[in-house]
Amino acid sequence: MAEQVKKKPLKITETVLRDAHQSLIATRMTTEQMLPIIDKMDKVGYHSVECWGGATFDASLRFLKEDPWMRLRKLRDGFKNTKLQMLFRGQNILGYNHYSDDVVEYFVQKSIANGIDIIRIFDCFNDLRNLQTAVKAANKEKGHAQIALSYTLGDAYTLDYWKDTARRIEEMGADSICIKDMAGLLVPYEATRLVEALKAGTKLPIQMHTHYTSGVASMTYLKSVEAGADVIDTAMSPFSMGTSQPATEVMVETFKGTPYDTGLDQNLLAEIADYFRPMQEEALKSGLLNPKVMGVNIKTLLYQVPGGMLSNLVSQLKDAKAEDKYYQVLEEIPKVRTDFGEPPLVTPSSQIVGTQAVLNVLQGERYKMVTKESKKVLAGEFGQTIKPFNKEVQKKAIGDVKPITCRPADLIEPQLDRFRKECAEWIEQEEDVLSYALFPQVATDFFKYRAAQKTKVDSSMADQENKAYPV
Ligand code: CO
Repeated sequence: MAEQVKKKPLKITETVLRDAHQSLIATRMTTEQMLPIIDKMDKVGYHSVECWGGATFDASLRFLKEDPWMRLRKLRDGFKNTKLQMLFRGQNILGYNHYSDDVVEYFVQKSIANGIDIIRIFDCFNDLRNLQTAVKAANKEKGHAQIALSYTLGDAYTLDYWKDTARRIEEMGADSICIKDMAGLLVPYEATRLVEALKAGTKLPIQMHTHYTSGVASMTYLKSVEAGADVIDTAMSPFSMGTSQPATEVMVETFKGTPYDTGLDQNLLAEIADYFRPMQEEALKSGLLNPKVMGVNIKTLLYQVPGGMLSNLVSQLKDAKAEDKYYQVLEEIPKVRTDFGEPPLVTPSSQIVGTQAVLNVLQGERYKMVTKESKKVLAGEFGQTIKPFNKEVQKKAIGDVKPITCRPADLIEPQLDRFRKECAEWIEQEEDVLSYALFPQVATDFFKYRAAQKTKVDSSMADQENKAYPV
């Protein structure tokens, strides 16, 4: 008798409310646009809905004039049965610098208190020391701590490296592991080997996160799932593909009738897609969604540079009227990356390496000018990279400054009280200090805007009262 294939339903994390719009429409989806559909989304049976963190926090305050904490509470109210997930940059939280442990702990505590169930925590160097505080805090608050490894290529990134790192992640107390392939570099057959290696290193569930930038994403998911991956990240079709994730409906259909059948209802998914489609059409019309990002960018594979970094590069060179230097800069990026210890290229390391490469080319001499951030990297202030820094470059950048080798946050004094004092006049809720800690200027501008809106509302209500009760 044929051996019965054991069922292992694949789980789906929906990214349309976070990564998908961050990747395609510059994180401009508003809470108001999200709310009407969450009742339906809550009925799907997703493993989780990624809806907060990453760039959404910054974009809410900066561009949408929305309180990100309020968004989270509204989403929590609407999603009664579905786990909510956020993306968290380790000791950088949602910002670009390292913060003290007390700020990291408080942020985790408030994220969970306001409705987050799963926190996906990553570090741009995969330096696990930069994840410790956030993981411990999530454990303490009874949240699900997922550690995401930033996927990258390079001779130091062997299958043994990934396997050993997975083992260490389990020992740290994480609840699951994610492979975060922000640039779409993980090709299908390599995914088989990678997932098998991870499975050999850990018993933790494995989640896959990739982007369609290089055109291989859905095949990578197929091979990952066959190799044992437990969860994949997908986006509703109107905000899928291109620099976003594979389409939810397509992946659901792919595994239908197999041992990995997700069991999700295509009709319900179709109704949800119908809701998002006009939003996509509107974004195309307004130019917010550039059709260019929807295609395959094979240069991502050739240069191993994330799609977002390529577009930043083009605009930096345009500003400097040096667009003819594009290919020179593309060749310089891997060289800078090697000098910097071959880190993954993801926020913030992607910006740091990219900007330094542009400077090296435009100045006509490598490291003639060194950015503040590059100096920080070479002084060890972002943590440890997989390979040592180029000693000559380090010397040229930071001179005789002695690089640090400890966990960077060990040298940062508690900051929370100082932040509280600095923004005291604007505080309306406990969470405000965290918005301020991450983005002092942007948050202050938002607080002023919020106060002004309130005065407006108060006076219009007073007007109405006056009309209702003429004196
Ligand atoms: Co992503």
